[in-house]
Amino acid sequence: MIISFEGGEGTGKTTCVDHLCSHLNGKGLPWLSLREPGGSLLSEEIRALFLHRDMDAMTELLLVLASRARNISSIIEPGLAEGKIVVMDRFVDSTLVYQGLMGGLGVDRVREIMEITGTWLEPDLTCVLDVPAEVSLARIRPGDRFESRDMTYHRNLRDAFLSVCTQKRHRVIDAARPADTVVGDVIRIVDTLLGAHFR
Ligand code: TMP
Repeated sequence: MIISFEGGEGTGKTTCVDHLCSHLNGKGLPWLSLREPGGSLLSEEIRALFLHRDMDAMTELLLVLASRARNISSIIEPGLAEGKIVVMDRFVDSTLVYQGLMGGLGVDRVREIMEITGTWLEPDLTCVLDVPAEVSLARIRPGDRFESRDMTYHRNLRDAFLSVCTQKRHRVIDAARPADTVVGDVIRIVDTLLGAHFR
């Protein structure tokens, strides 16, 4: 099973991932978690390039998919085969949003490239953490080229996530609320899924 967390910058994805993994530990369930881009050693090297070098959207796409291809073959597929719950801090929806919509490559084209390259895996559940751009910007201390962008960019980014994340697996969560409230929602949603899955 794959559970992904998506959303713009400063939405609290990493906090939710950490709390969810502790919760899974408490239930004695096997899990692994990864951030993208990054994760494996090679993918972390790609991440450093990706976050700090200016590049066109197609180069971004190919780099992030190289990172994902490596993660899928070396970590995600083996983890799934062992029955682990794979918790992703960003995954395929970020690629549709950042490279497809924000980068102008188009959602359909990016999806097709992911399918052709074996880098499209459909999560079972995707928690989309949603906050207004003002909240997002107030929470981050710009550390990379994505976080350094202006308010208009962050507004468009939020709209882009909301327009892409419309499938049954997507749960849009109001993440402007206190962290423990948001984490509580996430854990309830995951427990419902696990209850149905392991029944
Ligand atoms: P992070 O700051 O949430 O760790 O994510 C790193 C940045 O990488 C974030 O600004 C979004 C970007 N990104 C893409 O542009 N495309 C992708 O497919 C992924 C996974 C991340």
